[in-house]
Amino acid sequence: MCGIVGYIGEKQASPVLLDGLSKLEYRGYDSAGIAVYDGSKINIEKSKGRLKVLSDLIDGGKKLKGTCGIGHTRWATHGEPSDVNSHPHTNKVGNIAIVHNGIIENYMKLKTYLISKGYEFVSETDTEVIAHLADYYYKGDIIDTVIKIINKVEGSYALGIISSEHPDEIIAVRKDSPLIVGLGDGENYIASDIPAILKYTKNVYLIDDNEIAVLKKSGVTLYNTDKEVIEKEVFEVNWDIQSAEKGGYEHFMFKEIMEEPIGIANTVNPIIKQGLIKFDKIPKKLHIVACGSAYHVGVVGKYVIEKLAKIPVEVDIASEYRYRDPLLTEDTLVVIISQSGETADTLAALRDSKKRGAKIFGIVNVVGSSIARESDEVLYTLAGPEIAVATTKAYSTQLTAIYLLALSLAKANGNLSAEEEKAYCDELMRLPDYVSDMIKQKEKIQYYASRFYNSKSVFFIGRGLDYAISLEGSLKLKEISYIHSEAYGAGELKHGTISLIEDGTLVVALATQDALYEKTMSNIKEVKARGAVVLAITEDGHYNIEETSDAVLYIPKTNPLFTPSLAVTLLQLFAYYVASLKGCDIDKPRNLAKSVTVE
Ligand code: AGP
Ligand code: GLU
Repeated sequence: MCGIVGYIGEKQASPVLLDGLSKLEYRGYDSAGIAVYDGSKINIEKSKGRLKVLSDLIDGGKKLKGTCGIGHTRWATHGEPSDVNSHPHTNKVGNIAIVHNGIIENYMKLKTYLISKGYEFVSETDTEVIAHLADYYYKGDIIDTVIKIINKVEGSYALGIISSEHPDEIIAVRKDSPLIVGLGDGENYIASDIPAILKYTKNVYLIDDNEIAVLKKSGVTLYNTDKEVIEKEVFEVNWDIQSAEKGGYEHFMFKEIMEEPIGIANTVNPIIKQGLIKFDKIPKKLHIVACGSAYHVGVVGKYVIEKLAKIPVEVDIASEYRYRDPLLTEDTLVVIISQSGETADTLAALRDSKKRGAKIFGIVNVVGSSIARESDEVLYTLAGPEIAVATTKAYSTQLTAIYLLALSLAKANGNLSAEEEKAYCDELMRLPDYVSDMIKQKEKIQYYASRFYNSKSVFFIGRGLDYAISLEGSLKLKEISYIHSEAYGAGELKHGTISLIEDGTLVVALATQDALYEKTMSNIKEVKARGAVVLAITEDGHYNIEETSDAVLYIPKTNPLFTPSLAVTLLQLFAYYVASLKGCDIDKPRNLAKSVTVE
């Protein structure tokens, strides 16, 4: 979802901006542009298409001279991807240039007003309104101008602004969209995310909503909207640039699947060592709220938490939750799950829940992200930076975070004996080895992918936790291979959708839950009787499944509550190999963004 980079210092800005934007490509975009002040005026180059198109236009940055500039990769929301709709946008005289991530929700009202004042618009974007508003308000003080703008616009924004009237400054401000300030030596940066500037500095300001950053090469000053200087702690990034590089793998997604065992160990072991999470007050109810794959973790969470802690759990898709007027009390714990910690729908759900008096427990991967900072308590998934748009290691570590939360709640309300706690925790510490064993099946999975990658439609079925994992298996396949797929409760298929099963339809059947194995076997036979081809996933020992399935993958016997962690790695690899065989852009699937920072 878009990327912003800014640089002010002694170096030529363009190459730094292009390099930073390349580190943000994983976030998804459709066009790119940069603006650089050359000592007398602002020069802009921008174009639809990949970053390479822009880089070629400016000869890798050589054609845009100057040491102060801003760059942008756009994920279009208002106005099609085109050269003219690309950012940066400027006022008519071109002495103010801005880049924006987010949506200005009242842009039409502002645009109409500005047109009535004689302003002319060249693009279809909401963003251009900000450029002309800046012109309208500017009376010589750029901070006053920005304060007037943020008091006027409604919606979400991360803004980078340069002006030839203030040639030695970059101004930045955010609300709901992510933006950080990088602190260098004689140079300073802005960026949507840490990977863009990690090559240059590990010291950042994690600015909060409506904090205005004024960057000079000599230093950064932060102001509130009363124009008072505010102090902020420097946050030191604790991972290195190699973590955000491919490390020799063909795709980030594959690298990140390979990193699942260490991510799980890093997430689980410290909590088990220090003791399970303590709760001053035991919640009477949980709401788990998230989007996409994180939501699918929530579906697993419902089964595991209710089973272990005997606390009722509701699971909601964040974009739905906010509008259904959820019934929360101070006894409700709202669990917010997010890899990026910046997903707009999820962040909005967090804020709405807080307004309703609920406590927020965040399960987040990006340290210092908005959701992490606004949660009352955070359990970090220590998966490390996840670059591929399709989540894998973050999802897998979120599962273990949910197991830890369930065990902690069970212990807090007296539903977990010391012996049970030890048994569960010992098994959790074996998960990295189990997942490593799943990865070792990659050649077999690749072979199955070669048999099934031409499928037109794939159904993932399962019961209980197997249904929960089916949701994620289906999404992974859809989002990177573009093959239509649905996840269905195995017992529900016969209530309509089984009419879609015909000769050759691929059905991925999950049968890892011992207690439900026979029931699921019946469902496998139902689809086989209608011509389906079945790829089954089950526990070692259930070899009779081979009599009715066309392909089988086995997981080792483990606690039935933890089988999702083993099965999902197989499904991630299956989706990866299918997409690879189809020649898809695995790390940057079409239309998708790594962090969806617009609602
Ligand atoms: C995951 O593969 C998807 N790319 C997407 O569904 C993602 O899980 C969702 O957008 C939530 O993102 P978050 O975890 O960063 O909040
Ligand atoms: N809403 C703006 C546009 O459509 C910004 C989109 C983005 O975040 O890239 O240009």
